Amino acid sequence: MSLANLEHQARTELESCSDEAALRAWHNKYFGKQGEVLLALKKVGSVPPEERRSYGQEANRVKEALTEAHDAALAKVKERALAQSLNAAAVDVTLPGRPLTRGRWHIANRILRDIAAIFSDLGFQIYRSREVEDDFTNFELLNMPPHHPARDMWDTFHTTVPGVLLRTHTSPGQIHVMREHCPEPIRVILPGMCYRYETITTRSEIMFHQVEGLAVGARVTMADLKGTIVAFARRMFGEERQVRIRSSYFPFTEPSIEVDMDCIVCAGKGCSLCKRSGWLEIMGAGMVHPVVLQNGGYDPAKFSGFAFGMGPQRITMLKYAIDDIRQFWTNDLRFLRQF
Ligand code: DAH
Repeated sequence: MSLANLEHQARTELESCSDEAALRAWHNKYFGKQGEVLLALKKVGSVPPEERRSYGQEANRVKEALTEAHDAALAKVKERALAQSLNAAAVDVTLPGRPLTRGRWHIANRILRDIAAIFSDLGFQIYRSREVEDDFTNFELLNMPPHHPARDMWDTFHTTVPGVLLRTHTSPGQIHVMREHCPEPIRVILPGMCYRYETITTRSEIMFHQVEGLAVGARVTMADLKGTIVAFARRMFGEERQVRIRSSYFPFTEPSIEVDMDCIVCAGKGCSLCKRSGWLEIMGAGMVHPVVLQNGGYDPAKFSGFAFGMGPQRITMLKYAIDDIRQFWTNDLRFLRQF
């Protein structure tokens, strides 16, 4: 085949190549090991000497021209393939977006934060205390020796390590914070999870939050305790709230009190929420027992303190008329979304 015919044939075939595979086959046919172009170049030896020079030049030109034509065709095919795939995967920017579902605070944590905000305005800091405690701190240092009957108030989860248990209340945190800061004055709240080995009912769970409060100083009195509780109740439940205190008993306070607030539904008239009494119980409290102060490192002759403990889940149930405490930890979104 003459060089002119070769070029013409190659170009015609190249034009009908519509994808990369066809181009590869074409390239193999003309530029492969046994390719027509290479064969044509090799033929230079068998050409009569006087034509050799012009033949060689022409063969090289054809080779370069075809290479160039092939590269251009390949670029065009690739461009077309890219355009096609972009087209196929095109995004319709006019479609409305899919809305993200918004997260929010779990109601239990939101209430803890509300309580913390109120007490921080009153000058209380937050102290984080451990949930795994020893018997000594959970009971003994709080003035409950091993066989003290008051221990019956706190059913306990024991671990397999003797003397190590899940705290039944946040009160042992009082000991930790006192020992850490003695002899400085203290004003802290201690929020966190507590555990009790109890039958689960609509009113009692085996895990729940408590918020403990502790103030220790040179002249802390019952009046300070009352003022603090009233300020808290009014910020949390409304300015018109009335608070009443009844005497009670806790081993770690003396005197001990129970705090009630007038019912948020009937304002004291009596309804089903307050069981016709007009009052809702919101916390236990008292003046820190001298033995407890001493166990914390403070001299009870020079220091006094008040303490309180409340269950935010109970308070939340009152506030939102929640009738089952188990709702707090089942993670049922139908419940959680309401808050
Ligand atoms: N620790 C008590 C409980 O779990 C609550 C409590 C009562 C805490 C009186 C106190 C307090 O600090 O003074 O039932």
